[in-house]
Amino acid sequence: MSKVIKNVALAGATGSLGSIVLASLVNDSEFNVTVIARKDGQSVPKGVSIKIVDTDSVDAITEALRGQDALIDATSGPDSTLGMRFIDAAAAAGVYRVIPGEFSADVQSAEARSPLVFHGKNMAFEHLKKLSAEGKITYTTISNAAFLDWNLRTGFINIDIHNKKVQYLNDGTDVFPWTHLSSVGTAVVNALAKPQETENRACYISNIRKSQKQMVDLAKDSLGADGWDESTIDAEKALKAAAESMLSGTINMQVIGDMIRWSCTVYSPRWEQQDDNKLLGVRNLTDDEVMKLIKEIAAEKK
Ligand SMILES: NC(=O)c1ccc[n+]([C@@H]2O[C@H](COP(=O)([O-])OP(=O)(O)OC[C@H]3O[C@@H](n4cnc5c(N)ncnc54)[C@H](OP(=O)(O)O)[C@@H]3O)[C@@H](O)[C@H]2O)c1
Repeated sequence: MSKVIKNVALAGATGSLGSIVLASLVNDSEFNVTVIARKDGQSVPKGVSIKIVDTDSVDAITEALRGQDALIDATSGPDSTLGMRFIDAAAAAGVYRVIPGEFSADVQSAEARSPLVFHGKNMAFEHLKKLSAEGKITYTTISNAAFLDWNLRTGFINIDIHNKKVQYLNDGTDVFPWTHLSSVGTAVVNALAKPQETENRACYISNIRKSQKQMVDLAKDSLGADGWDESTIDAEKALKAAAESMLSGTINMQVIGDMIRWSCTVYSPRWEQQDDNKLLGVRNLTDDEVMKLIKEIAAEKK
């Protein structure tokens, strides 16, 4: 299959990632963009179409995707089967390329992806690979590990720059990649602009590779080294407790977070073996640039 992508559908356009991907599509591409929304009242930029779709129904999504060349799934939510529905609908509608709801830990690392929280993503990826092997669709996955700005803003990675509080996973020295949301947006646009180079391929991007400790050192240099509340957590124990909670029906941000944070302690050589930054227009950030970002984010709450 070889094709030029013109018509692009985006699901999850109101989200942290989806809103940035939408901005990249609008500002940096010539694609005709259609937002797939599940409810009315969402405003979209000039020139962007919007379709309100019952995303519980594969048939309804299929109808909405007819005529689209690509689908980007930037959704997130408790329904672990949503990604599969988008993929099935895309294949049924004859969509050529899907960028599935990945944007996370190494899609090809069975270990990093072993926590239950990745079940939906894993299922979707396996399904997509099967459909692509049958010639029914093509895919590009984006593995970006930790969102750089999002994690610093929310403290999800246990580094709270607003309150100078950090909880290290084990000793905090495991190095993992971080990628700014704007770079993910750029990568998505470039992946679709280079459909042959990115066909049926897992792509790896990052702006920096740093441990929690290295990031906190930059935060200390940026915001002052005084007054930091530093503790540690046994990531393995936290994962085990989170798995028990999830299996007993308790699913909350702590449970989800402990699973995802544990995956950051799993070393994945993939980013070194296959660096797609150049292909997808993503650049490395210097420590000075990261410190500037830390200062900007810290100032947002003042
Ligand atoms: N690597 C990282 O550090 C990191 C961090 C966070 C997220 N992620 C990943 O990034 C992706 C996007 O996450 P996010 O945090 O940007 O999401 P988010 O801010 O929570 O937004 C979720 C989006 O999904 C839409 N959505 C949810 N359920 C839907 C459904 N049933 N049908 C249609 N749309 C639905 C929401 O639409 P409504 O407006 O209708 O609610 C919203 O646009 C996910 O794959 C997530 O795993 C990665």
